[in-house]
Amino acid sequence: MVDEDDLYPRRKDDRKRQMFDSSDARKAVENVLDDDTMDALLKAADRDLINKMYGIIESGKESAILLADTKEGLAAVKIYMKRAGAFREMYHYLKGDKRFRNVKNDRRAIIDAWAKKEFKNLKKASNVVRCPELYGLQENVLVMEFIGENFSPYPKLKDVNIENPETALDQTLNKMKNLWEEEKLVHGDLSEYNILVESDKLVWIDFSQGVHKTHPEAEQLLKRDVKNIVNFFNSQGANRDIEKALNVVFSAS
Ligand SMILES: Nc1ncnc2c1ncn2[C@@H]1O[C@H](COP(=O)(O)OP(=O)(O)OP(=O)(O)O)[C@@H](O)[C@H]1O
Ligand SMILES: [Mg+2]
Repeated sequence: MVDEDDLYPRRKDDRKRQMFDSSDARKAVENVLDDDTMDALLKAADRDLINKMYGIIESGKESAILLADTKEGLAAVKIYMKRAGAFREMYHYLKGDKRFRNVKNDRRAIIDAWAKKEFKNLKKASNVVRCPELYGLQENVLVMEFIGENFSPYPKLKDVNIENPETALDQTLNKMKNLWEEEKLVHGDLSEYNILVESDKLVWIDFSQGVHKTHPEAEQLLKRDVKNIVNFFNSQGANRDIEKALNVVFSAS
């Protein structure tokens, strides 16, 4: 079958133009994304998942975060890069997770499964902890609630002044415990970099590394998360023993 877009490349250009708020935004995004991902964005727009793309909030090696308008309101669009280097590691994390046991060992399948993993993890996590609401998923493109104001994300935990580090630490440890016990999930990359601060509320983001409790490395990841969190809050004035914190999180309630 012939793809209509191959016959009418101009039509595709028109659609791209319509999708972006300005030509500067389009050029900036085109510089970062590959053609396949651009196609996934167009599909998301065709599905009414995205109305307008405004531009890039942050872009790293493995993913880019874009700002968009959607029917649900302002959205963060997280795009997992097809050129990401960490395929072997991603494949390893996916294979060990019973939800993704059958993932194929090819780049495209791995990246799409990675996006789906963050989507599923966010869905589970939302039962326990404040995190971005899900709007939708299209291949390697995840559309979620924008956590911020005036078009800027709220600050990361590492960049704010914490008034009561002991209380914030207790709350965070309790959420980790609940996520583990009730949703059988570990965040896997929890730190002051992946928590945003919305007035006095902590919002957890970046769940792509999260795995199911039955993953062979799940406990190790949870321990690492606990250590990172305790070390961070201790550096902000708390005084917590890591072993005691581990006991709280791992003890059966
Ligand atoms: N839902 C959101 N709302 C507002 N800002 C967001 C949202 N998601 C991500 N961001 C912003 O983008 C930054 C990077 O996002 P995130 O931590 O999810 O990706 P990453 O660290 O690049 O991802 P990964 O580790 O999966 O490659 C965040 O620190 C935050 O500033
Ligand atoms: Mg992050």
